[in-house]
Amino acid sequence: GTGKFFVGGNWKCNGTKDSIAKLVGDLNGAKLEDDVEIIVAPPFVYISQVKDTLTAPIQISAQNSWSGKGGAFTGEISAEQLKDTGCEWVILGHSERRHVIGETNEFIGKKAAYALSQNLKVIACVGEKLEEREAGKTFNVCFEQLKAFADAVPSWDNIVIAYEPVWAIGTGKVATPLQAQEVHAVIRGWMGKNVSSEAAKAVRIIYGGSVNGANCEELAKKEDIDGFLVGGASLKGPEFATICNSV
Ligand code: G3H
Repeated sequence: GTGKFFVGGNWKCNGTKDSIAKLVGDLNGAKLEDDVEIIVAPPFVYISQVKDTLTAPIQISAQNSWSGKGGAFTGEISAEQLKDTGCEWVILGHSERRHVIGETNEFIGKKAAYALSQNLKVIACVGEKLEEREAGKTFNVCFEQLKAFADAVPSWDNIVIAYEPVWAIGTGKVATPLQAQEVHAVIRGWMGKNVSSEAAKAVRIIYGGSVNGANCEELAKKEDIDGFLVGGASLKGPEFATICNSV
């Protein structure tokens, strides 16, 4: 894709005020290259803490958002509220939301459209489960998930696609650079056929699933890998900085 290499740190449901203060301190002290766009996604309740203390050139993302305007939706957080607290991005369609919480393609598409309408940028996650890969369904699963986003959103200008094979998330079983590159190229091809050749060229497709300081450099060399979405390793400041600087 065109645009800067993109690295996201998805902190998931981890951290305390103290551990997050330490992590932000480490990020503030890290040397981060200029030619990379970096975001971190803290749990909702720590977003303001991070916003108030982060001095490093890092944007803030939420890990989820409600599918429409706020109101009587107990336990939800609206896109407007995320903007109000200083978020610029939201992660949507993460495999844990799909497969642990049970969000559907259609619901995720609706969330993406609403987030974009409120000027939040979207990290749109797709990826197959192990049994789907073994059944030869990897591309079809990704296509269905992409189509749900495409059907809902007016433009892909403010979307980064994250390819995260479910079997690689939190397992230590990173996709090989070839495996990741293969799917990224196929996703770009799908974008060309179903959205536009301009969007296919421009969109950044980042890889997630057991990325760490030791495997990031080989992955980053691949033509269609435009960055990373990092879980576990993003909780360690120095290692996350290594991943940010991997290209
Ligand atoms: O959003 C991040 C991914 O789910 C990857 O998580 O790096 O812990 O495997 P992980």
